Amino acid sequence: MNNFINNTWLPSETGRTFDNVNPADTGDVIGAFPLSSASDVNAAVSAAAQAFAEWRLVPAPKRGDILRRAGDIFTRRKDELAEIMTREMGKTITETKGDIQEAIDTAYYSATETRRLFGYTAPSEMSNKMNMSFRMPIGVCGIITAWNFPIAVPSWKILPALAAGNTVVFKPSDDSPHSANIFAEILLEAGLPAGVFNVIHGDAEAGSAIVEHPDVRVVGFTGSTHTGKAIAARCGQLNKKVSLEMGGKNAQIVMDDADMDLAIDGVLWGAFGTTGQRCTATSRLILHEAIHDEFVRRLTDAATKIVLGDGRVAGSQVGPVINERQREKILSYIEIGRQEARCVLGGERDMAGDKARGHFIKPTIFVDVKPHHRIFQEEIFGPVLSVTKVSSYEEAIAVANDCQYGLSSSIYTRDVSRAFAAIRDIEAGITYINAPTIGAEAHMPFGGIKGTGNGHREGGWTVFDIFTEWKTVYVDYSGHLQRAQIDNY
Ligand code: UN1
Repeated sequence: MNNFINNTWLPSETGRTFDNVNPADTGDVIGAFPLSSASDVNAAVSAAAQAFAEWRLVPAPKRGDILRRAGDIFTRRKDELAEIMTREMGKTITETKGDIQEAIDTAYYSATETRRLFGYTAPSEMSNKMNMSFRMPIGVCGIITAWNFPIAVPSWKILPALAAGNTVVFKPSDDSPHSANIFAEILLEAGLPAGVFNVIHGDAEAGSAIVEHPDVRVVGFTGSTHTGKAIAARCGQLNKKVSLEMGGKNAQIVMDDADMDLAIDGVLWGAFGTTGQRCTATSRLILHEAIHDEFVRRLTDAATKIVLGDGRVAGSQVGPVINERQREKILSYIEIGRQEARCVLGGERDMAGDKARGHFIKPTIFVDVKPHHRIFQEEIFGPVLSVTKVSSYEEAIAVANDCQYGLSSSIYTRDVSRAFAAIRDIEAGITYINAPTIGAEAHMPFGGIKGTGNGHREGGWTVFDIFTEWKTVYVDYSGHLQRAQIDNY
């Protein structure tokens, strides 16, 4: 399996490869993918830079037609692609279908946006003069993403970037390269011209070559806070536009008046869906003291019944974690948690039967977690939930906000005034009322504040602020020189 450059499948010039392995069964090797170098990146960027010259001139609605066709092909290939995605990154087929649906939604949404991409017009301060502004494509966009949403998250960046007239060099995570190649196959079949979209596989070497390349004008990154900050620092030095989606430590608050069954369903899905490997996962549960003990008891009873297994096998509800490195990181956080708080569920690998061949970790719940604990503050990216007890709404908000991240958040309450106060008070880019911290929709802004992002929003119309620059135009039809700020005063 190869890189995709200029609509051609090519191995790395180095000949090096890495193996893509099924996290549910590490004996199942999916294939060898190129471990690309800077010279592979150079080839992809030069194809993208050349293609930009023509792609930017294609009328935006015509670009939209290709994206709409891509949405149709994603729909046609949904089941097949879901199998491929589950095999390489582990989450259940139901979830991988949801992942692909986000790309379908984004494809159709981006296609329709090509008939809007609104500019802004305003009166001039002079006579016989018109003022207007347009969104312009920027050039080659470098897109670097994580493995937990192998199609959805890349689609949030790639499809609007293309809609706006840019070209793309995409480096997927080395844990989900196969899905990325299907993405390329789909854009190829949809009719995208050569060089407009390119895929480079590999590790940090390829990623940093993309960031460094002078013809890459924008970098869109989703991944760890550590890597994101390093990319942003470098882009600062190089004066490149960069959009970052990094870590989360998302809190679900449950007040004493909440519908408890609803809140339990929410936390089960939010904390253990995708094996907790979402930047939006519910990793902190903040419970009002009046319901704390009963809630923990009922939640633990329900979480015990979660069926772990290969995501491709019917009946599995939660799949493995992505790889050995993450497995060991999560287990080391569980050890830290045991020193800090009390583990009431899980806390170990699941080695039963076939699961011994994969990276399975049992759903894990810690209670008596305090805001200064590391398991409260740090992103674990696994099936580990920290529970903190509070005695009032004010304390719940203070505890929820006592965190470096600010992506998603949630409150369960039947008090409408409290719900609205929480919308105002919680420090996060996204707040859910009576729903878990996950469930973003393609046509709404997605992103976080504080340590999560750098002010950009993917999703919805706001993504075009990342992938376009403004061109302001003044048309003077007076027939004589009009000096602004001088002749009219
Ligand atoms: C991510 O975890 O990187 O709202 C994105 C959600 C999903 C997207 C998550 N639609 O959880």
